[in-house]
Amino acid sequence: MKNNSKQTNNESGNDESTDLQRFADLLPPPHRLARRSFLRSLGLGAALLTPAAGLFNGVARGASAATAGTINSGDAAILSFLAAAELLETDLWQQYTELATGNEAYMTAIEVIDDDFPQYIADNTDDELSHATFLNAYLASVGAQPVNLDAFRTLPSSRATGAQQIGRLTNLMNLTVDTSWWIRYRSHQNPDFGATFPQLIEIVDRPSIPPHDLPSGSKQIQAIANTAAFHFGTIEQGGSSLYATMAGKVSDLTVLRIVASIGGTEVFHFAIWNDGAGDCPKVRVPGLFFPDIEEAFDGDPLRQKSLIMPEPCQFIDPSLPRCSVIRPTLVENAGAMAAVTALTNSGLFIGQTPEFFQTLQDLAQAADSASRIC
Ligand SMILES: [Fe+2]
Ligand SMILES: [Fe+2]
Repeated sequence: MKNNSKQTNNESGNDESTDLQRFADLLPPPHRLARRSFLRSLGLGAALLTPAAGLFNGVARGASAATAGTINSGDAAILSFLAAAELLETDLWQQYTELATGNEAYMTAIEVIDDDFPQYIADNTDDELSHATFLNAYLASVGAQPVNLDAFRTLPSSRATGAQQIGRLTNLMNLTVDTSWWIRYRSHQNPDFGATFPQLIEIVDRPSIPPHDLPSGSKQIQAIANTAAFHFGTIEQGGSSLYATMAGKVSDLTVLRIVASIGGTEVFHFAIWNDGAGDCPKVRVPGLFFPDIEEAFDGDPLRQKSLIMPEPCQFIDPSLPRCSVIRPTLVENAGAMAAVTALTNSGLFIGQTPEFFQTLQDLAQAADSASRIC
C-alpha cells in the first residue's frame, strides 16, 4: 500500500481524491499500476475522471443535447448510452471486487469455483472503468456532453466485511439471473429469428454478494457465489450483443473503431465467464439448486459444460450456412432499450428513482434511434 501511495504522488503530481482513486485503491497492486499508466497515457486529470457535474444538474442527457464537433448526433447518442452502460457495469463490478477481495468467506466461495476468479473479477472491473472513462473522455473531446450518473448513486451497500459504505447505482441483492444464454450459445437457433431458450438454472430474487457476513464454507455463501458466477456471464453476454448491435448503426469510422474494439473486450469477458460458470459446485439452499453441470448434463449438447465456443447458428438469412457469431444483434433484441429492459427485469435497479429510469430510457431511445449516415 505504501509503495502504491508513493507511486500516485510521483505520477500525478496532484491530489486525486475522486471516486476513481478510492476504487483504484481497492484493486490489487498490478491493477493500480496498470490503471495509473492508462490514465497517464490519456493525459487525464481528476477533473475529467468524474464527468462534468453541474451540467444538466448533474444528470447528463447526453445525445439529446449533443452538439458534437466531429461526430453526428446519432454517434453521440450511441456513445452516450454506452458510457451510461459502462458506468452501470463499473458500479456492479466494483461491488463484486470489494467482496471477492475483501470478504474472506465470499472470496473462499468464489475460489471454490475457480481460484483465479478474484483476479478476473478485479480485472473485469478495471476494464469497465476504463471503458466508461474513455467513452466520456472521447465525448468531451468532440464537444459532446459526457454522461454523469452520480446523482443516482443512492442505493445501499452490502453490510458485509469488505464492502465500502457508499451509495451505489446498482442492487445485487434481489437478482433474477437470466441463464438462458448458456443454452442459446450451444444452440443452432438465433433469437433474431424468433428463437427462445429455457433457463439452465432458475435463479430468482437472489443475492449475488453477501448482504452481511456469512459463515465461510456455508451453503448460503456458496449459493451466493454461484449466483454471481452466472451473473457475470449474463452481464457480459449482454454487453457483447449490445456493442455488436450498436456497431451496425454508427456513421463515423473512428466511432466504429471504438465500438468494435470495446465490444471485443466484452466478448472476451463473456468467454471467460461462460467457461467459469461451468465449474460452480453443486449446492442446494431453499429455493435454489445448482447441480454439478458436468454430472447433470454430460451428453446434452444444449447444456454440456465443455461446449463453450459459440455453436454456429442462423445468421442474416436462414438460407445461408450457419455461422458462429454473437447473437442476438437486432436492435429489438439487443439494442439499448432491450438492454435497459433486461437489466431492469433482472432486479439490478431495484430501489432506483423514477428519474433514474427516465434518464436511462432517454439515453437508450436516442441510441436506438440512431442510424448510419453515409
Ligand atoms: Fe465494458
Ligand atoms: Fe462488460
